Amino acid sequence: MDSFIIHGGQRLRGRVRVNGSKNAALPLMAAGLLCDQPLVLRDVPNLSDIRNMSRLLASLGCQIKQDDAAGTLTIHVTDPEPVLAHYDIVRTMRAGICVLGPLLAARGKARVSMPGGCAIGDRPVDLHLRGLRQLGARITLDEGNIVAEAPDGRLRGTHVFLGGPNGSTVLGTANVLSAAALAQGVTVIECAACEPEIEDLAALLNAMGAKIQGAGSPRITIEGVDKLHGVEHTIMPDRIEAGTYVLAAAMTNGEVVLDNYPARHLMALHDRLNEVGVHVEPTDPPDKKGARKSKTKQAKANCTGNGLDAQRISVRIAAQRHLNPVHVVTQPHPGFPTDLQAQIMALLCLADGNSIITEKIFPDRFLHVAELARMGAELKRSGPTVLVCGVRELIGAPVMASDLRASAGLVLAGLAARGKTTINRVYHLDRGYERMELTLQQLGADIQRVEES
Ligand code: EPU
Repeated sequence: MDSFIIHGGQRLRGRVRVNGSKNAALPLMAAGLLCDQPLVLRDVPNLSDIRNMSRLLASLGCQIKQDDAAGTLTIHVTDPEPVLAHYDIVRTMRAGICVLGPLLAARGKARVSMPGGCAIGDRPVDLHLRGLRQLGARITLDEGNIVAEAPDGRLRGTHVFLGGPNGSTVLGTANVLSAAALAQGVTVIECAACEPEIEDLAALLNAMGAKIQGAGSPRITIEGVDKLHGVEHTIMPDRIEAGTYVLAAAMTNGEVVLDNYPARHLMALHDRLNEVGVHVEPTDPPDKKGARKSKTKQAKANCTGNGLDAQRISVRIAAQRHLNPVHVVTQPHPGFPTDLQAQIMALLCLADGNSIITEKIFPDRFLHVAELARMGAELKRSGPTVLVCGVRELIGAPVMASDLRASAGLVLAGLAARGKTTINRVYHLDRGYERMELTLQQLGADIQRVEES
């Protein structure tokens, strides 16, 4: 298993582009099952989760073509018969559950391995199943598989409520939305997830011929259609990757420019960072010909208000040595994302005072706490809340976390720590960050991947 070795203390400086979003790409790829023409996705990140989804779709009768030169991934159903999403693939990636809705809608049945335990806590799929049952699916469990069938081969539109104890469900909304696109009649999803990845999925489905309104709000209306067709679509930028690099810049007192930055989707992060004393500001976009465009002209073209309500802009992060403590509560979008909780905790370890972080989506998502403590952080956890007592410095140490974002938090801590940090089990990071070490090296970090011999 590969590891990272980081010698901390370098200020990050430079410019990098944010990649396409992993969490948008996964359900969008699964939507390829909904039509018999090629679906061409642009800006799909090169990540192990994406490769696993490609493997899963290939096992479900899709031809997958990756064109690195063109930056596209094409999904084309060539055999519409298979309906089994096998345990061997789904256990490597919980997002395999995304094929359930599309299979049911397009093939009338599905047999999808039930996702198992997860390092970030309980992750049931009861809301997915409840939503699909409300659309008329008959669902049972057999030998660890969810076995679902649409009576007479087609689902029926209806009112679906997707609220659970911790809010809505992102992938559950994606499943019901994809299934309802081909159902008979109108479906209204109440308490739908408002995450931008759902908006991206609805935009793709509408381009394929679906009739969806309200995505991005808690009420989505879908008028079922008989058939969907192939299209080309560019995946939205990854708001979590973007936020992670913002926090890396903040952590190292750096000065970084990020292009393809989804500012509108990171308002909660900006709000907390303003209080911490870290500022994210619109800046000139990269100019392909080498000439600089007028900053004010571009800023005006892209944004209104404080300039951070645009979908894709270039931003400059300017940090300062003094960081104020803050209170962070993770919430469904547009609240502070749980997927940035570990990273902001790493930052707040160096704040001048005590911060409080409360996790409201996955109350046990704290694998990074004990590891940060090994680096000198002072953290006191009580249930879903962690008191972060700021310390003067973090000290490098060998650390490990079996969760993607927890590992990202540890990398950030390593970048700012005195001395050497070894991050073990980097494959967790490879699930969600495309060659993170290369991006950080480009920004001047002293980080090396040590490949398993
Ligand atoms: N929940 C239920 N029942 C369900 C589904 C979810 O009670 O049927 C609960 C969960 O236990 C959790 C809350 O609802 O408390 C939200 O879970 P959600 O279903 O929204 O999570 P998800 O769709 O499985 C996606 C992302 C996660 C991200 C969460 C929350 C993908 C592939 N995954 O998961 O991303 O943390 O939404 O925003 O999109 C990551 O990228 O590291 C990651 C874990």
